[in-house]
Amino acid sequence: MVNIILLGPPGAGKGTQAKRLVEERGMVQLSTGDMLREAKTSGTEMGNRVAEVMARGELVTDEIVIGLIEEKITGHAGGGFIFDGFPRTLKQADALAELMNRTGQTLDAVIEMQVDDAALVARITGRFTCGNCGEVYHEVTRPPKVAGVCDVCGSTDMRKRADDNEDALKQRLMEYYKKTSPLIGYYYAKNQLSAVDGLAEMDAVSEAIASLLDKA
Ligand code: AP5
Ligand code: MG
Repeated sequence: MVNIILLGPPGAGKGTQAKRLVEERGMVQLSTGDMLREAKTSGTEMGNRVAEVMARGELVTDEIVIGLIEEKITGHAGGGFIFDGFPRTLKQADALAELMNRTGQTLDAVIEMQVDDAALVARITGRFTCGNCGEVYHEVTRPPKVAGVCDVCGSTDMRKRADDNEDALKQRLMEYYKKTSPLIGYYYAKNQLSAVDGLAEMDAVSEAIASLLDKA
């Protein structure tokens, strides 16, 4: 089983491709964004504080997300992990390397999903998600077969994210360029970086990722 990182700005398609890999290859998706959104619904003080930071489009502290990932990795040794939205800072990248080392696992590929900013606004503002199973949709590029009904689980509980508006997106992009994009150089220097065209159609992106995984 290979362990991979999907690296890319908001709306690059990390979650969409991760879900396909879970279905097709039985891999384990570790999305820190999803974990933090779950913590938010717990209604604890920490959950509320995190929700405010996320709604503004800022990054949550390294300590919190590293703690979340550590819990998942140590509780599920054996891997096949897809890191989706983690690491997002150099400190998180170092922590992940240490954690993989400590648990006797390897990081097999870092896949940069390349997109341009103009496409991201349309992707983010058209996105909605099934509140029951988490399937990701888009008003134009990935509508459900029956409007308002989830293809996967039949739920009608479709939701929009609190940070999917233009103001929060601007902040998320700023955070990406300032804090996360240095990871491209970091993994390039470690000889672990590959790239796919994230602007291609979803199936073409899946194929490109599959061929990288088969080589990893
Ligand atoms: P997170 O949930 O990770 O959000 P993000 O990185 O902003 O990325 P998104 O989930 O918005 O985009 P995606 O790449 O998954 O795209 P998707 O597949 O949905 O993080 C949210 C927040 O949590 C952060 O801002 C931060 O506050 C906090 N956080 C999370 N992790 C953290 C960390 N490690 N450290 C600190 N803070 C952290 O696709 C988008 C849309 O496009 C969908 O509608 C989809 O249907 C459509 N689409 C996808 N692919 C295609 C395609 N090929 N063609 C056409 N449409 C497509
Ligand atoms: Mg996502």
